Amino acid sequence: MTILPLDSVHVPLPLDQVDLADLDNFTDGVTPWRMFHTLRHQDPVHWQPEPEPNSGFWAVTRHEDIARVDRDAETFTSTRFVNLEELDDDQIKKRASILELDGVRHRAMRSVLQRQFGQSTINQYADFLRGLTATTLDKALAKGSFDFVADVSADFPINVLARLLDVPPEDNQKLINWGNRIIGNTDPEYADVLLESEESEKYRDLPFRSPASLEVFDYGRELARQRRGGSGTDLVSRLVNETPRDGVPLSAQDFDNYFLLLVVAGNETTRHTISHSMLALIQHPEQLARLQEDPSLIPVAVEEFLRWASPVYHFRRTATRDVELGGKTVREGEKVVMWYASGNRDEKVFGNPYDFDVTRADNDHVSFGKGSPHLCLGNLLARTEIRIMFEELIPRLSSIRLTGDVPRVRSNFVNGIKKLPVEVTLA
Ligand code: HEM
Repeated sequence: MTILPLDSVHVPLPLDQVDLADLDNFTDGVTPWRMFHTLRHQDPVHWQPEPEPNSGFWAVTRHEDIARVDRDAETFTSTRFVNLEELDDDQIKKRASILELDGVRHRAMRSVLQRQFGQSTINQYADFLRGLTATTLDKALAKGSFDFVADVSADFPINVLARLLDVPPEDNQKLINWGNRIIGNTDPEYADVLLESEESEKYRDLPFRSPASLEVFDYGRELARQRRGGSGTDLVSRLVNETPRDGVPLSAQDFDNYFLLLVVAGNETTRHTISHSMLALIQHPEQLARLQEDPSLIPVAVEEFLRWASPVYHFRRTATRDVELGGKTVREGEKVVMWYASGNRDEKVFGNPYDFDVTRADNDHVSFGKGSPHLCLGNLLARTEIRIMFEELIPRLSSIRLTGDVPRVRSNFVNGIKKLPVEVTLA
């Protein structure tokens, strides 16, 4: 079994070996951190060339610069797309979701679901979440040895989503597979069509160039048909029955893309955060012991889990004018990529950033974005899910250890764990 070399994450990689566009650098759980370390210290706003057909991007790696980009949507727009792929106008028109809107329309589209993701609505789900967590854990822990990803992390967020969408639990596996295939579009184990392959040209107008998107659209449209004109309060009912406050109803395409975003946004991210947090607690047994001794620390620990996990490596913006950033001149039209994971290890903001410390105070991590109009809509839900998961898990555990390798998703977009084989002793 490969021991994960925690000690080497902050050993800088020589600048000429840094390549954030090479996905093979993102499979060992160590190289990305070494690249970010080098960039923050030696070239914090770094020009990263990319293979054709892409044209390269500015890699923004310091907390302060990430915040500056994220706050200034006029200079750094989302409307040219927010992943690294470069889209023409026609593709953008077809593929844009709320993520790729700015200004009034963005606020209006966001407000349709704002209440659904607000604290008071989330509080109403707390009992459901706790019950669901207990069921998931009791089933998994009873096995003694199991894959924590498949049996705990993967199941849980999808069950929550199924409830928010008000769809039957029988559909969960379908939703999980769609999420894997769509977000895992750069990992040969998950993708039916790899993003960088020629075949993906056929799917250029679909989200993530994934044919799985068509299945998600069909599924969402059927739900929309059933819920239109009804009085449901689930997410689909709100999307089909609510007019955004700018008075412009959602088009069929707006609905498709919003629905698909909901299916993919919450699952992978929350799943990977739970897996990374579990792995960190296994690798830092003294931190697990602190939480076992004092579970009231868990809400504070959740913020450290989010910082540590950094489940979304980056999102992208595009410069709308020439602008100085970190001593570099960014030209209009160039891609500007905020590497949140790097911001979460910035020594200027976090004391001993490579220490996993469940009591860390003033944890100003950027895992959900930083001051952005696009700040994760699901952040309160995600925080609540993660908190309840560990509030239920920790008292049930006496000890836990790794029993095998921890393979990573091949992606520079999601920082994902595919498998986490563990053996547990119950309390
Ligand atoms: C740990 C879990 C999560 C992380 C780290 C995360 C991260 C992010 C980030 C960084 C953004 C900003 C994108 C940008 O600025 O371009 C975002 C946006 C978004 N997230 Fe999350 N997310 C998580 C969980 C969720 C969940 C549970 C949901 C809902 C089910 C969700 C729904 C959304 C939506 C709808 C947006 C778009 C918001 C907008 O464009 O205004 N996320 N998320």
